[in-house]
Amino acid sequence: MANEEHSDAGAFDPRGTGLALEAGEPQLPDAPPRSRLAWCITGSGHFLEESLALAARLPAVDLFLSAAAEEVLPIYKLHIEALKPRFRVFRDKTASGVPVGMLYDDIYHTVVVAPATSNTVAKCAFGISDTLPTNMFAQAGKLGIPGIVFACDTEPVVVTKSPHDWVTLRPRRIELDNVERLRGIDFCRVVSSPAELEAVLDARLKELSLAWNTSSS
Ligand SMILES: Cc1cc2nc3c(=O)[nH]c(=O)nc-3n(C[C@H](O)[C@H](O)[C@H](O)COP(=O)(O)O)c2cc1C
Repeated sequence: MANEEHSDAGAFDPRGTGLALEAGEPQLPDAPPRSRLAWCITGSGHFLEESLALAARLPAVDLFLSAAAEEVLPIYKLHIEALKPRFRVFRDKTASGVPVGMLYDDIYHTVVVAPATSNTVAKCAFGISDTLPTNMFAQAGKLGIPGIVFACDTEPVVVTKSPHDWVTLRPRRIELDNVERLRGIDFCRVVSSPAELEAVLDARLKELSLAWNTSSS
């Protein structure tokens, strides 16, 4: 019966922050609403280091990793344990994207997905949310929270850093079309280079009267 189904809603909020935390994660101290930035990392080696370098210069950032990101980061010698002193790190350990509940708790002012694999770009462009980054992106949009996606496969020729060498890739029509489709999604800004990402973040910080932690030099 509908009434019985909803009778416990006040006692147990499945979207609450507490459930998003893994054992041992510190609770956030009380902070003003929408005062943190959610930065999602996907399993892309392309511009991974550059993206993390920008994240490290921003105030109050939490990282949200896809399962693929968790595998790819150490391949590029970026270890999650080494990120933890600088960021709170949320891993993709739930089918429903439990950490997404923190968006409902009004913690985040912006959701960044950088770098975004062509897989994640395709999902975001078609409204699919079955990973932590794609869930964060979709739910942010439904809440009117701006999303910034650094799509890597945006040019006909992309020179990318594989773990051992530089590789030339030729994104297919479908990858390029998905980027264009993503540009039309509500509350989403698509960027295609680290410099453009930095410029859009800079504008967002100014909108919020916030500042970078450090300069880029
Ligand atoms: C070392 C390594 C580097 C990768 N780099 C890229 C990349 O630059 N762009 C991309 O679209 N996929 C890349 N992939 C493949 C993605 O990780 C894979 O498509 C994965 O399913 C993406 O999942 P996600 O979008 O949920 O993170 C890479 C995989 C590996 C193992």
